[in-house]
Amino acid sequence: MFLNFRRLRRYQCMQLMTTCLVLSVVMVCWEQLDNGVVNHFKSTSYRYLVNSFSYINRSLTVPREEARRFSDFPYLLDHPDKCAGQDVFLLLFVKSRPENVGRRAAIRATWGNESYIQSALGVTVKVAFALGATEAPRRGRSGPQERLAAEDRLHGDLIQKDFLDSFHNLTLKLIMQLHWVHHRCRHARFFMTADDDIFVHTPNLVGYLQEARRRGAADLWIGRVYKGAPPIRSRDSKYFVPWEMYQWYAYPDYTAGAGYVVSGEVADKAYHASLTLNASLYIDDVFMGLCANAVGLSPQDHAFFSGDGRTPYHRCVYERMMTSHGHVEDLQELWAAATHPQVRRAASGPLGRLYCAAVRVALLCRPSATYPCKAAFS
Ligand SMILES: *[C@@H]1O[C@H](CO)[C@@H](O)[C@H](O)[C@H]1NC(C)=O
Ligand SMILES: *[C@@H]1O[C@H](CO)[C@@H](O)[C@H](O)[C@H]1NC(C)=O
Ligand SMILES: *[C@@H]1O[C@H](CO)[C@@H](O)[C@H](O)[C@H]1NC(C)=O
Ligand SMILES: *[C@@H]1O[C@H](CO)[C@@H](O)[C@H](O)[C@H]1NC(C)=O
Repeated sequence: MFLNFRRLRRYQCMQLMTTCLVLSVVMVCWEQLDNGVVNHFKSTSYRYLVNSFSYINRSLTVPREEARRFSDFPYLLDHPDKCAGQDVFLLLFVKSRPENVGRRAAIRATWGNESYIQSALGVTVKVAFALGATEAPRRGRSGPQERLAAEDRLHGDLIQKDFLDSFHNLTLKLIMQLHWVHHRCRHARFFMTADDDIFVHTPNLVGYLQEARRRGAADLWIGRVYKGAPPIRSRDSKYFVPWEMYQWYAYPDYTAGAGYVVSGEVADKAYHASLTLNASLYIDDVFMGLCANAVGLSPQDHAFFSGDGRTPYHRCVYERMMTSHGHVEDLQELWAAATHPQVRRAASGPLGRLYCAAVRVALLCRPSATYPCKAAFS
């Protein structure tokens, strides 16, 4: 009896200690929790309750002279005639950093190979790389800027302005692209902006866009859509945005910056919106959302555009995929595999279609998948 009582006391003591431990862990984590789960809950309900963000537009509007300082950096490398006199179907801007020479070479040899696209798909796609300036001194024969100029003489596809190429200057890079499109390639039917570590299935994309044009879709803006995404208020995050910079619980809907496509009309509207907005908010895809919000546009979600993460390697997925994020070393293999003639045949016939549908469900309907589960059924 006495022994049992002792055991009970010990048990209670353990319980108490465990509770204390859990509570202190929760308290320590509360800030993170608040920035994560609670933030998301707040932002999502906020978006669906408010569902109109015109006041954001009002508060971020600045005089044109003020806005000009985000765009009036001089060009260091430019190709004013890249689009001239050609029927450009798609202008594809790849956001790259000066030092990413290898990534640019891989893209030129795979999904960004203009001459391959022209001959295999019969449309003109122009690929250009958007760059900021390096930190190193500009002068000197062996400096990074000189190496860039040499690369550009060889390929003629670098567009560079004189602002520091950094993560927090990505919005300046987006504005540079919008200005370049407006002034140098306004007749392009579509405009895409993409990271230099993604894979774009150019044949699938061109096919999709041709179909969209046939249907006469104006104001097209597609990608992986984020709805009611909350600003990150944790200082440890790369995406930290202080309250003074953005004072609401959610961003307007926007597409993941990894890669999205807009029609020429949308690019032009976004350009005009950018002329009167405060572009201090350095997250470029969110800024695109703010520009679109200012002209009353909203994005369309496409299940086979990836936000983060790579596609599963499988021919039943290649057949539909548009973009996949996080490819550097495997770009060549993926390009070869995804564009192999066998891929189209994989899903033909009733048996092939059934097989591929089953494979897609197995690959895409799990929590860590790149594409949403609904992609398996589309
Ligand atoms: C691009 O494609 C063309 C035609 O298919 C090919 O001849 C050329 O070698 C490719 N370019 C690169 C850099 O691989
Ligand atoms: C952005 O570029 C400007 C112009 O080069 C530079 O002064 C500024 O420090 C850069 N900002 C960041 C956060 O890198
Ligand atoms: C633009 O936003 C930044 C950051 O919130 C702010 O410091 C700046 O004063 C704003 N500019 C104008 C002209 O309102
Ligand atoms: C956003 O602001 C601009 C300039 O103040 C205005 O012309 C435009 O109509 C506004 N857009 C919306 C959707 O309220």
